[in-house]
Formats: sequence, C-alpha cells, structure tokens
Amino acid sequence: MRLIAPSLLAADFLHLAEDVRFVNENADIFHLDVMDGTFVPNISFGFPVIQAVAKEALKPMDIHLMIVDPEKYLERFSKTGAEMISFHLEACHDAGTDPRKLLRTLRGYDVKPGLAIDPDVPVEELFPYLEDADFVLIMSVFAGFGGQKFIEDTYERVRKVKAEIDRQKTRCLIEVDGGVGPDNAGKLFDAGAEILVAGSAVFKAKDRVEAVAQMKKLNSLKA
Ligand code: DX5
Ligand code: ZN
Repeated sequence: MRLIAPSLLAADFLHLAEDVRFVNENADIFHLDVMDGTFVPNISFGFPVIQAVAKEALKPMDIHLMIVDPEKYLERFSKTGAEMISFHLEACHDAGTDPRKLLRTLRGYDVKPGLAIDPDVPVEELFPYLEDADFVLIMSVFAGFGGQKFIEDTYERVRKVKAEIDRQKTRCLIEVDGGVGPDNAGKLFDAGAEILVAGSAVFKAKDRVEAVAQMKKLNSLKA
C-alpha cells in the first residue's frame, strides 16, 4: 500500500476549500497537525479548522496530536469524525499516562489509534505497543514545524520497526512524517512505510498533482 497524506499545515488557509478539493481528488488522506505551543514550540490550529475540513473531506482525516496530555482531548478529536488519530509517546511519558490505555480508548471511539515518536526516541520503545496501535508515526524531522530537512537515518528506523511488525505478526502500519517528498518517498515505501505525510513537497510544489504521482511512482501524464 502506498498512501500519500498531504499535511494541511502547508495549505493556503485563505483558500482552504481549494486545497481540500485537491486532496479529495488527488491524494489519499488528510493529515492534520495539531500543535499546542507547549509540547512543541509552535501553535497550528484546532477544532474549528478540523471541523471545517471535515465538512468537505471525502478522504479519511488523520489527526497528529503534538500536545501535552493528549488523553484530555481524545474524545473531542474523535468527535470530529477523524478516522485516524495519533499522539506522541513522549507526551504520555511526560503526563504519566499509559500509551496502551490511550490507544485502547481511541479504538473504543471507533478511531484507528496511532503512536508517534520524534527522531531522538529509540524505535524499540514502540515495540510493546505494536499490537494495540493501528499505525505508528515515525517522525523524520523534530515535530513542530513544516519545511524541515529529512533526517536520513529514518530509513533504518523504518526498517527496524517493519521487521518487528513482521516478527510480531501484527497489522500495524508505518507512517513517516517530515521532509518527505519525491526524492525520498520510494526509498521509504521500500523500507516498509505505507503512509507518507508531505506538506511542503505537495502544497509548495509547482505541480502538486505531479508531486503526489511521483511520490506514489504512478505514471503521471507528464511521464
Ligand atoms: C511537523 C508536522 C508535519 C509537517 C510536515 O511537526 O508533523 O506533518 O506538516 O511538513 P513537511 O512535509 O513540510 O516537512
Ligand atoms: Zn504531522
């Protein structure tokens, strides 16, 4: 499976409807980055924007929570109609909450639960949760901002997690987020990722349709 999830953080908020239409017609998933200015040093958007997107979204919404104490907000974010919601393992450690409990809570809300980690967290820390998570989100930049440079050792991290998923025989998917674009997408899919998030590489591209097609390595019209 090769799914592309454009990150609306890089969208044009004055013309959001157009960018939502673009994802509906050309990509697979809406990636929505929620940042609280405390877990990460940046503030993005929250419920009003997500609810507006939800009205027009024909593809599943994937909410990436970069917030402290995610437990507090799982129910409200679930009610936006999102199909996938991820939160950070580091945020659980800071808040003293059990990630497994949160993954199960999300599943109880009929949402696909995901566990995210920043590049400095050993991937082995994900291993105890692969059974309870529908997906893991491996950050390939430090969470907080779009437009950062892809960190090269992500390929190895993805391969390690993929090997463990196969060993445990779980159905957990791997999502990669940060600095992803046509240059590294093929290699990430080959390493075992199935969902790639791309903000700048899609929304800042001269030809976004082409950018998504290249990431999927589909034969685009211009090929
Ligand atoms: C970063 C966010 C990413 C970001 C990706 O903290 O989680 O989803 O929007 O943006 P690009 O693709 O520009 O690195
Ligand atoms: Zn994200």
